[in-house]
Amino acid sequence: MTQIYDQIGEGYHNLRNPDPRIARNILHALGEVETLVNVGAGAGSYEPLDRNVVAVEPSLTMIRQRRTGIAPVVQASAMGLPFRDGAFAAALAVLTVHHWPDRTRGLHELARVARNRVVIVTWDPAYSGFWLIDDYFPEIGEIDRQILPSLEEFRQALGPIEVRPLLVPHDCSDGFLGAYWRRPQEYLNPRIRSAISTFSKIRDVESGLDRLRRDLEEGTWRQKYRHLLEQLDLDLGYRLVIADS
Ligand SMILES: C[S@@+](CC[C@H](N)C(=O)[O-])C[C@H]1O[C@@H](n2cnc3c(N)ncnc32)[C@H](O)[C@@H]1O
Repeated sequence: MTQIYDQIGEGYHNLRNPDPRIARNILHALGEVETLVNVGAGAGSYEPLDRNVVAVEPSLTMIRQRRTGIAPVVQASAMGLPFRDGAFAAALAVLTVHHWPDRTRGLHELARVARNRVVIVTWDPAYSGFWLIDDYFPEIGEIDRQILPSLEEFRQALGPIEVRPLLVPHDCSDGFLGAYWRRPQEYLNPRIRSAISTFSKIRDVESGLDRLRRDLEEGTWRQKYRHLLEQLDLDLGYRLVIADS
């Protein structure tokens, strides 16, 4: 199976450093579970070091970026987790469900292998209001809205869910799409964009970049979004979805 992250995942671990505040929220959502499977684990962000963790990741490029000493990793897909039913107390999936070829099947797999709890970090496609998408890259919104499951889809696959907003700190160290909401010039940097998968999927990056560059130079961005510069964190539509068995 061709993995998009085999092409775009190079250098991922340098730019996607787990943010400690986001890590705390994920840990809190997981609760006191002893054993955990982290599906779509990538380079290992947000894997608690003090629990018994097994990682699942299909892309070799991502697996090679895992530091030594962290959780053991199995090269597999969420489409068929190579574990018996209820093998782990909990299953975790961080910003990965939208990459799965059959999301319902993958979500059922998470629920099958987790005895107590499934925790998912995702982006709610019903959210709107992020300046980067609205003003510069509307195509990102169109693409992400097609591939990100609605909260209703999670409900249908997992049963009752609790949904918690996951705020993005202004100096977030994990370089996902929304991480630089208060540091707009960072999006002009190709290295920063290389760790954000949606940028590799849009046809015309240049015109959005030109508009952003011009608005930053002319002070238009600052004028329009001055209020953001005083905020410490922001709700950009990222959500923690928690389902108990
Ligand atoms: C945005 S990265 C997130 C990685 C990690 N969870 C994190 O938060 O840094 C998405 C990950 O999903 C993985 N992925 C893609 N298709 C998958 C599948 N079918 N099953 C499991 N993981 C998959 C990718 O290889 C990639 O590592």
